[in-house]
Amino acid sequence: MHVREAEERDVEAIVLLRERVATEGRWIAEVTPEDRPEGQRLYLDRIRRPHSTVLVTESEEAIDGVIAIDLVGGIAALGMFVDSASRGFGKGTSLLAAAIGWARSQSAHKVGLDVWPHNEPAISLYRRAGFVTEGRRRRHYRRRNGELWDVVHMGLVLDHASPGSSFDPSDHNVITDDLHASNNTGDRRS
Ligand SMILES: CC(C)(COP(=O)(O)OP(=O)(O)OC[C@H]1O[C@@H](n2cnc3c(N)ncnc32)[C@H](O)[C@@H]1OP(=O)(O)O)[C@@H](O)C(=O)NCCC(=O)NCCS
Repeated sequence: MHVREAEERDVEAIVLLRERVATEGRWIAEVTPEDRPEGQRLYLDRIRRPHSTVLVTESEEAIDGVIAIDLVGGIAALGMFVDSASRGFGKGTSLLAAAIGWARSQSAHKVGLDVWPHNEPAISLYRRAGFVTEGRRRRHYRRRNGELWDVVHMGLVLDHASPGSSFDPSDHNVITDDLHASNNTGDRRS
């Protein structure tokens, strides 16, 4: 699966794809046609800034998958979406692997992302890549219809060599606890 870095000329297509996925109403944050200029600015910035990047997949020369990465304080924050017609063909897996590779190349110590708790396809994809659940923020995001949605934070530690906090003897147990919890809920990670 070919994954390439987005170029400035791709920004319009990226924002239209994001809008189409947002219109599905259940996977990503809401955006409207009015948000397009701001969205284009956001993706242009990511393409131009050294500590961010946008990676894409294509189908018949049309962009059908996007992953955006912002590196802040050594943590690479991810957001991704694949066109509904292109899902289930490994594009998400390829984009995620390339994004993790980019994060490593930038010496990020960790990759992090937020996902709605009902987004089983995405959570399954992230777990398969080694991400673990680090916490759930309750009633965190307000949707336009007034609902307050929980959000799950998932993380992938890249730096296992640096010492943890010398003040907290249980520092590394975040990962251990998550593994215990997921083992009890039938998680299929090995
Ligand atoms: C999540 C998403 C990016 C995955 O992209 P994709 O191209 O379909 O991913 P892949 O084809 O590489 O599939 C990877 C894994 O996704 C999971 N998956 C896909 N569809 C699934 C489904 N309907 N139910 C459960 N898991 C599913 C599986 O773990 C699959 O692995 P498998 O092939 O071994 O079963 C895509 O579904 C998407 O864009 N969804 C809408 C936007 C979104 O949710 N973005 C993430 C926000 S946090």
